[in-house]
Amino acid sequence: MLNQSSLSSALTVFFLGCLIASIVRYLKVKREKTRLLKELENQRSANRALKRQLAENESRLRVIIESEPELVLLQDADGKVLEMNPAGLSIAGAEIPEEIVGRSIFSIVAPEFRGSYKTLSKAVFRGEARILEFRVVGLRESVHWLEMHAFPIRNVSNCIMALTGIARDITQRKHAEEAAKRHQIELAHVTRLTTMGEMASGIAHELNQPLSAISNFADGSLRRIRRNSARQEGLIEALEQICHQADRAGHIIRHMRNFARKRDANWTQVDINTVVQEVFRFLEPEARQNCIVIRLELASEQPLVSGDFIELEQVMVNLVRNAMESIIDSTQEGREICINTTADMPKIVEVSVADNGPGVPPEVAKQLFDPFYTSKASGMGMGLSISRSIIEAHEGRLWLSQTKEDSGARFVFTLPAISAM
Ligand SMILES: Nc1ncnc2c1ncn2[C@@H]1O[C@H](COP(=O)(O)OP(=O)(O)OP(=O)(O)O)[C@@H](O)[C@H]1O
Ligand SMILES: [Mg+2]
Repeated sequence: MLNQSSLSSALTVFFLGCLIASIVRYLKVKREKTRLLKELENQRSANRALKRQLAENESRLRVIIESEPELVLLQDADGKVLEMNPAGLSIAGAEIPEEIVGRSIFSIVAPEFRGSYKTLSKAVFRGEARILEFRVVGLRESVHWLEMHAFPIRNVSNCIMALTGIARDITQRKHAEEAAKRHQIELAHVTRLTTMGEMASGIAHELNQPLSAISNFADGSLRRIRRNSARQEGLIEALEQICHQADRAGHIIRHMRNFARKRDANWTQVDINTVVQEVFRFLEPEARQNCIVIRLELASEQPLVSGDFIELEQVMVNLVRNAMESIIDSTQEGREICINTTADMPKIVEVSVADNGPGVPPEVAKQLFDPFYTSKASGMGMGLSISRSIIEAHEGRLWLSQTKEDSGARFVFTLPAISAM
């Protein structure tokens, strides 16, 4: 049996034990808390350093983008501009970002490139990177050519957030290319005219000999018949000579025709829409200067033909120039030329050039395609005749389809189509 004093000392020991254990636990928790607090503080300062680093990176990136001489653009799937750097703002003709940011990029993409820009945009939001050359007409009418590299930008969960476009201003290069192209076409035109001129004088010279011979033999035979001094053998000989010389003349003409229609090595698969767009590109500024709008209605299918790109371009230039010249001379309001292409695959590709000039009077319509027929003071009258021979060499047809006066002229040509590759 424990006495009172030994019980109280046992209790004292027990309580002391409990107290010591609590103190030990408390110290442990406190140490742990201090450690955790320290860790948290370390974490916080690491985060602060990271944030500072990110902010520094972002501001460095922003400085680079802001001072970048190329256009940098962020755009959403609908074409809304989310951001644009100062170089871009100046190309877009915007004085403050709000004039373009938040608006559609299509407000500055030239109408003839809106289709291809939409295709690029769709491809980027599918995850692809694309390159496109296109023309922009700025908010203040300045025109620039751009070469844009577009690619998707993704968030942390790998979803595409925006299209990033980096575009180089290639206006000068395009102007140089256009000037070179113009020269090339002009040269092709002049060369052909010179060739035609040389051919015409060549034909005249070559034909002169058999024709004079025919005329001499016929004259001599007639004289002898009239004098009753004609011997049958002599007449037969003269008639044989006439036949021979006529054959020679025919041979010369056939030879010249083959030369004019010779297919050369420049034949390729040609997309007629590309021919139209090229011609539009270098004639449009001239049309604009004369207050003429050229409208393009192009077939959505790829209208491929087999032929010589430059020659087909020459046909288009001749037709569009004629249309412009007819409108310039008229007092017509709302001057307009419409170029239309349609593709009836797999058979035929049809191209028409319609203007709202004075049209072609019926008596002129009969001679339009004759070489050297012109109603213009400075015209050569060779444009339509050359164009028709080019189209016929491509196994197509060219004709005037609208002859009514006062409703403009409409020239149409067709070419055999080949199916797309
Ligand atoms: N779109 C048109 N509207 C009215 N008349 C036209 C049109 N296109 C051609 N013509 C008429 O047809 C004629 C012949 O045209 P063509 O292109 O062959 O020669 P041109 O234009 O007179 O000279 P060039 O050889 O320099 O082209 C023109 O002079 C004009 O009278
Ligand atoms: Mg002409």
